[in-house]
Amino acid sequence: MRVVILPSELKASNFAANIIGKFISEKEKAVLGLATGSSTILTYKALIKKYEQREISFKTVTTFNLDEYMGLHPDHPQSYRHYMNNNLFNHIDINNKNTFIPECFDDDYVTSCENYESMLKRHGGIDIQVLGIGTNGHIGFNEPTSSLNSRTRVKTLTQNTIENNSRFFKDKETQPTLAITMGIGTIMDAKQILLLGLGKHKSQAVAEIIEGPVSSFFPGSILQLHKNVIVVVDKHAASDLKLYDYYIHTEKMHQAYTCK
Ligand code: F6R
Repeated sequence: MRVVILPSELKASNFAANIIGKFISEKEKAVLGLATGSSTILTYKALIKKYEQREISFKTVTTFNLDEYMGLHPDHPQSYRHYMNNNLFNHIDINNKNTFIPECFDDDYVTSCENYESMLKRHGGIDIQVLGIGTNGHIGFNEPTSSLNSRTRVKTLTQNTIENNSRFFKDKETQPTLAITMGIGTIMDAKQILLLGLGKHKSQAVAEIIEGPVSSFFPGSILQLHKNVIVVVDKHAASDLKLYDYYIHTEKMHQAYTCK
């Protein structure tokens, strides 16, 4: 696991955007796995800037989002489709037909989940999966005790997640308690994983995924078993890491070695 600690949220997000941007410019048909939430906003802004400055194009890029609330229409301001349109898709040259979100508009969510997995396979799998981390360790909406081999399915959200996300919903607005999410097994199939942890409130979660035991009780810890993970954090999110100085040193070595 490569741990990159940067001085600010902006620097961490720019770092993540540089990795994604470089990949897109080098691979003709890149497949990105995307996340929503506050952790990814600045990264998407930086990617939009790269597009505007003609550094990158998304014309041949395909995206698969991690998750979506059950029952929220794409036009609902809190739907993840709405978030993606507003924060990325509407500002770049991506073909909307190449943007997938695990939506389900009828009762047949089992088929929707299976179709999502098939579609992923048909596209050759995810090249880079972008992740945030929940304070309870969830990745996607794989809440604590999710099967570490799980595939795309419906999950019941924990009270912790519902409360954390209630800030996005208006008073008295019905907040979904179920979501469709890629499974942990689905996420682990990605060729590369790029996790963003920003802010002091993520410091314990970041320490758990990097230095804690691998456990379904803290789903993000499974990333320790993936061959190609980069965790990008700002110094506040890194503040509970026991080996903080070591990660700073190893990244310096990494930069020196790869820049030769
Ligand atoms: C969102 C997602 C979630 C978030 C996580 C962190 O698509 O899958 O796992 O990444 O809840 O959310 P923020 O970034 O809002 O702190």
